[in-house]
Amino acid sequence: MELSDIVKAAFEKAYPGEDFGGVRVLPATDPKFGDYQCNDALKFAKKAKANPREVGAKVAEALKGNDVFEKVEIAGPGFLNLTVSSAWLNSQLADLGSRPRCGIPQKGAGKKVVIDYSSPNAAKQMHIGHIRSTVIGCAIDRIFRSLGYDVIADNHLGDWGTQFGILIKGYRELLTDDERENLTVANLEKCYVLSAAKAKEEDGVWKDACKQELVKLQQGDKDNLALWKRFIDISIGEFDRMYAKLGVKFDTYRGESYYNDTMPGIVAKLQEMGLAVESEGALVVNLESEKLGVAIVRKSDGGYNYTTSDLACVKTRVEEYDPERIIYVTDARQQLHFKQWFSIAAKMGYTTKLVHVPFGLMSFQGKAISTREGNLIKLDELLAEAKRRAYDIVKERGGDEKLAEQIGYGAVKYSDLSHDPITDIDFSWDKALALEGNSGPYLQYAYARVCSLLEKAGSGTDGASGAPEPMPKDVGFAVSTSSEKRLALQLLEFPGAVVRAAEAYKPSVLADYLFQAAQLYSSFYQSSPILKSEPSVRAARLKLCELFGKVLSTGLGLLGIDTPRHI
Ligand code: ARG
Repeated sequence: MELSDIVKAAFEKAYPGEDFGGVRVLPATDPKFGDYQCNDALKFAKKAKANPREVGAKVAEALKGNDVFEKVEIAGPGFLNLTVSSAWLNSQLADLGSRPRCGIPQKGAGKKVVIDYSSPNAAKQMHIGHIRSTVIGCAIDRIFRSLGYDVIADNHLGDWGTQFGILIKGYRELLTDDERENLTVANLEKCYVLSAAKAKEEDGVWKDACKQELVKLQQGDKDNLALWKRFIDISIGEFDRMYAKLGVKFDTYRGESYYNDTMPGIVAKLQEMGLAVESEGALVVNLESEKLGVAIVRKSDGGYNYTTSDLACVKTRVEEYDPERIIYVTDARQQLHFKQWFSIAAKMGYTTKLVHVPFGLMSFQGKAISTREGNLIKLDELLAEAKRRAYDIVKERGGDEKLAEQIGYGAVKYSDLSHDPITDIDFSWDKALALEGNSGPYLQYAYARVCSLLEKAGSGTDGASGAPEPMPKDVGFAVSTSSEKRLALQLLEFPGAVVRAAEAYKPSVLADYLFQAAQLYSSFYQSSPILKSEPSVRAARLKLCELFGKVLSTGLGLLGIDTPRHI
């Protein structure tokens, strides 16, 4: 039984007939107040106009005889400070260790979720600006899967729009035969830059020609469609190379173009419902009453836009999957766009929960990165540098290239995931790769140290991957010192941390949890001899180390970070 349920039952015993549905037991903010605390006596006293300390005393009385708590104290105006018994703690640890996925509750069983993330624009190389959506989205994806949700990870590529007219014209006239034959995303990017520059020429001839190509493409011209398809395939091939490095996998790659045929129907429906009206030649939905301005759903030239395409996309996703919710991970500058079309979707009758997870800007080594300047660091280059720098660190210990990738890419990911998505972050090599402090390598080292300790103790395997070999079944947990206890209590919070990270759509909640666990492990390790202790203490402490290792590698796995056993 959960602690909250036990204390709730005590409230019910003390005050029969009252509703105590909201009673919660939380980890104590300070160990000097016990292990857990409950503040609901105050809340209830206020409602019932009773003396809160008396309420606390009655609940404490009702908890007497319960072997979960060793001590129940009433503090201040009526807080309940709870100290758990060793027997309860040890049995909870054993339970956690025996459950699959370290006890992550299967809250999402039977529920479908679509997560739309990364979603770069085609025909361009991925750059440093694509890290956040990819890394945060992937972590949310993994966290939801771990909770048992049936997740559909969709890469909503920007694969349609005016840039394709410019690209087609440029491809035909500005690339060499060789470049056309061995077409790469880098070539496409160059072709776009050259062609877009020519489209700015005064006479407007090139610009018109680009428009013509676009119109032909939109009308289904065979040659232009084939070229477009080729550009998309090459782009996806290149994106997949990045995703493979980052351990990201999508279930579907449905770009904006996938919804082309659905857009006219959306607009017709909006008109029919009286939601969209003509304004200066365009068709708009007025959202002024919600302070969301005006959203264009069909431009004055008859073309559709980002809003129309997201509305068509939600229609398709709802009809095809009927998901419980759809999560969109994009930068915070798109907040108005999402608020606008979420509101329109609700008016159209879509009841699926739509969630936008906005993230802040990223600067690089103190300098703003701007997509306009076009001189962005390519993601490929950033990852290559991460690997090179990590290799410098691991080679002294005989680490190989694979290990350098695990550490380097892990560092890049963790430096993002350790911050609340909405905050602006600065990427710095020194911070990302620091071996001390809140960094990916610090946590990976912590895991590798546990593995080597367990191996030294003869309880682990030399296998190349996976969690340490389980300890013999007959050894039980036996928490005794305060540093052991603090680590143990933290480990019990793991399933709750995963749930909170999912509820808040913040992988940083899990990252914070893991960092704290690693710090508590380190103080336990420093204050408690393990291998040199007498056999029963040694065995019990090793069990705690083993459980910490399991929790740490499960948690880092949810953040998309590898946990090599040897560093
Ligand atoms: N392609 C867009 C961009 O690069 C992101 C798309 C996000 N997903 C969506 N359904 N709007 O900013």
